[in-house]
Amino acid sequence: LRARVALNPAAVVAPVSRRTFGSFVEHMGRCVYTGIYEPGHPLADEDGFRTDVLALARELGVTMVRYPGGNFVSGYRWEDGVGPREQRPRRRDLAWRSIETNEVGIDEFAKWAEKADVEIMYAVNLGTRGVQEALDVHEYVNHPEGTALSEQRRANGAEKPYGIKIWCLGNELDGPWQTGHKTPEEYGLLAASTARALRSAEPDLELVACGSSSSSMPTFGTWESTVLEHAYDVVDYVSCHAYYEEHDGDLGSFLASAVDMDFFVNSIVATADAVGARLKSTKKINLSFDEWNVWYLSRFQNAPLPEEWKVAPPVIEDRYNVADAVVVGNLLISLLRHSDRVTAACQAQLVNVIAPIMTEPGGPAWKQTIFHPFAKTAALAKGDVLRLHIDAPSYDTAKYGTAPLVDAVATHDPATGDVTVFAVNRDVANPVEFAVDLTAFGADLTVAESWTLTDDDVYAYNSKEVPERVTLRSLAEAGGAITLDGGAATLTLPHVSWTAIRFT
Ligand code: AHR
Repeated sequence: LRARVALNPAAVVAPVSRRTFGSFVEHMGRCVYTGIYEPGHPLADEDGFRTDVLALARELGVTMVRYPGGNFVSGYRWEDGVGPREQRPRRRDLAWRSIETNEVGIDEFAKWAEKADVEIMYAVNLGTRGVQEALDVHEYVNHPEGTALSEQRRANGAEKPYGIKIWCLGNELDGPWQTGHKTPEEYGLLAASTARALRSAEPDLELVACGSSSSSMPTFGTWESTVLEHAYDVVDYVSCHAYYEEHDGDLGSFLASAVDMDFFVNSIVATADAVGARLKSTKKINLSFDEWNVWYLSRFQNAPLPEEWKVAPPVIEDRYNVADAVVVGNLLISLLRHSDRVTAACQAQLVNVIAPIMTEPGGPAWKQTIFHPFAKTAALAKGDVLRLHIDAPSYDTAKYGTAPLVDAVATHDPATGDVTVFAVNRDVANPVEFAVDLTAFGADLTVAESWTLTDDDVYAYNSKEVPERVTLRSLAEAGGAITLDGGAATLTLPHVSWTAIRFT
């Protein structure tokens, strides 16, 4: 089996957007409490943040973090989370049937974000709330001084405004499960009026309208079309959310999950552009893929939330295996390939809740398998994304029809001359050869580094006891191979594997 591609430095999709490597911290399960924040933990800093988690978030290469939800935000009152801690109310969180103590709010999260060196993407509640509350939280976080809410922030210890640039206008309001679920007309009007109001306060905010919660929603496409008919001129992004899982042992379909992500992106780009054409607008709406990951959602749907109302109960703490990590690496390949229109993305979520980082309360933190492809892609995808035309053998999948066995993307950094290829082999049993013609970059390129995630057991996983059961190895150590001859590279990619190779 052999796939081939020729790279061309002039075929540029777009520069790599650093916001592609976003993540998500929701007040959900143990993401905040005993995730990023655990005062009393031996490794907690003076603000109660776990320094082991901070170090892992930095190592992961996360650039932006969406906060505070998620479904949680659709019932959230942001003002509960500011001011003296002892006066903050405990509330029911209806989305996850738990108790929110409000010990962490925007001021604490902004401190954490500064320590983690990430940009905040802030989501406002358009489920149970509206324009006024969005304006209020904006005044609190971004207005410099001299107004009631900006002075309240300053009195609470943050003299300077946080300068949050990118704002989500609600969360998944197309979903019947969402508190305050809306029709596309209702949401389109609300998103447009909220966007207009926020823009009168700060014209150059970047605003994200809610798109579809998955490509299988019955309103997929029509939701975006209606919402954008109302909000096209005042928003910059429409959001996309997608979660993938292996169903009924169908590994072949699961490994082709990025086919759906490509379909999702292409469909919504076409939908947004069609609205733009109808409106005779020259403006383009970009996509914010601000929730994506592997999530064994069907297990969650089959196991109802606990009866008892608890603070930070464990919720959807999926344990990820090798195949999941290969899919995550492939989803990043898909996101990068669409860098001309997908200019922001958030893996959901960062810690404990369907997350690359796991913690034990009072105990250690460790990396799940999916940590590795994310961290290496964030570290190595530099410069421009190249447009590839891959000629690959294909296989039949039950879910997505015929899919290529090899998927890949490449980046070229004009500043250093480095070329990095990210590739997956979706074959469940066999290695595949991938011929990569790099001659357009000269004949003297060498392999600077290679990283592969694979295992004889595609269901192997990491745990607190064996945190390094699955890690990255060089392609050769992982059972593959690279030959390079005058700019012609041949990679042998092991079955069910994800690989990154930097040529310099
Ligand atoms: O990330 C978990 C949940 O998935 C989010 O709260 C919601 O937006 C989505 O349905």
